[in-house]
Amino acid sequence: MSDRDTLLTLRVPLYGLFFFLLSALLLPLSAIAEESAEPVCIQCHSKMPEKYSAPVKLWRESIHAENGIFCNNCHGGDPKDAANAMTPARGFLGVPKETAIPAFCGRCHVGVLNDYLASAHGRMLGKGGPTCVTCHNNHKVVKASLDLINEKSCSRCHSFERARLIRDAMKETEAMIVTIDGRINSYKKFGTDTEKLEKELFSVRNRFHTLFHNVNVDLVKKETTRIQGDLKKIQAALDKLDDSREKRKIAGAAAISLMLLIALILHLFRKTFD
Ligand code: HEC
Ligand code: HEC
Ligand code: HEC
Ligand code: HEC
Ligand code: HEC
Repeated sequence: MSDRDTLLTLRVPLYGLFFFLLSALLLPLSAIAEESAEPVCIQCHSKMPEKYSAPVKLWRESIHAENGIFCNNCHGGDPKDAANAMTPARGFLGVPKETAIPAFCGRCHVGVLNDYLASAHGRMLGKGGPTCVTCHNNHKVVKASLDLINEKSCSRCHSFERARLIRDAMKETEAMIVTIDGRINSYKKFGTDTEKLEKELFSVRNRFHTLFHNVNVDLVKKETTRIQGDLKKIQAALDKLDDSREKRKIAGAAAISLMLLIALILHLFRKTFD
């Protein structure tokens, strides 16, 4: 047998091994790709006329798309079987009626739903009150902020006066939260242990962001006053840190001045003996 023949006989099993390894590597990958493939809802709806494809475009820009909440997570249905995707047997819910929207969204946003239902808005559901999508949209839902409380949106049904009072109370508190967050972060960068302060701010911030949906001016004012009280406690703790940092700086500067003074004295002392 020539060298070439030995190589050939070796090569066949080597190729086999190579392909075996390759497929072993790729199989799990394709299984993962299958798992994260977009639901059939999107594939089919993207190719449909405007009325049925618009939701796809709008949804792509939403915080839901960002967090892996797909069409079927809201509307139900089977995301993997195009033929039966929209049958009630596969849990398809269709398009909710106006009065069903809060419960539709509230499956996942339970706390918000409860606050909303107890509010003047919730009590007027179906009788001129706004639903979740009036303020947040249905498909292009973006990160919520106080900018949602604006004259254009809130004066569709009543004057802006009460909305303004709520917005002002909340904006002031929000500004405090942002400032405190910045101060904590600058300490964290220099290695100070800020875990306790961070936890306190996190819990106050959560309480703050559940405030809006009751839309009760007195309640919002009372609660923001209480929250501001808690924020002031965190501010005081940070002021203390500022103080001790200032003291350390002064002590450091004093030590350096003292050393310079000693050096000068020694220098003069030596000169007198030279
Ligand atoms: C093979 C194509 C196809 C697939 C897959 C598909 N749809 Fe549809 N969808 C349609 C068509 C066509 C209509 C309009 C006619 C109708 O209502 O049946 C529609 C309508 C809708 C409507 C509006 C219904 C109404 O009452 O107005 C919703 C909501 C919807 N689809 C959601 C989904 C969701 C969620 C999925 C995935 C679980 C999905 N679709 C999968 C083709 C599809
Ligand atoms: C966050 C929940 C949510 C998600 C995600 C969602 N929808 Fe909707 N969709 C709604 C609501 C609520 C309505 C009814 C809105 C209304 O009455 O104003 C609606 C209405 C519709 C309608 C009726 C026409 C219209 O625009 O009102 C279609 C069609 C539709 N959705 C398709 C889709 C498709 C396709 C996807 C995925 C790309 C999707 N939806 C994702 C909540 C959602
Ligand atoms: C299947 C669960 C689910 C449904 C149904 C759902 N959402 Fe969401 N929503 C989420 C998740 C997950 C997030 C992203 C994480 C977060 O911020 O809570 C989110 C985020 C949001 C945010 C941004 C929150 C923030 O931190 O600023 C808003 C506003 C929102 N959803 C409104 C709606 C509205 C309106 C509907 C109904 C049309 C709806 N959601 C239906 C799961 C859902
Ligand atoms: C009248 C307008 C309006 C209505 C109606 C409304 N929201 Fe909101 N929503 C807001 C505003 C304004 C904020 C921002 C509050 C803030 O930044 O503290 C918000 C914040 C949120 C958040 C984020 C909360 C967080 O913890 O950061 C979610 C989720 C949400 N809304 C879901 C819903 C759902 C679900 C419904 C229906 C049950 C609904 N909203 C009804 C105006 C509204
Ligand atoms: C679709 C119509 C509609 C829209 C849009 C709307 N509201 Fe209302 N709002 C109502 C109705 C109806 C009431 C109950 C009657 C009243 O007090 O005027 C109400 C009541 C209120 C109240 C008084 C609550 C109380 O307990 O006394 C406040 C505050 C309020 N809305 C704030 C807002 C804010 C802020 C926005 C915008 C983010 C907004 N509204 C958008 C319909 C709406």
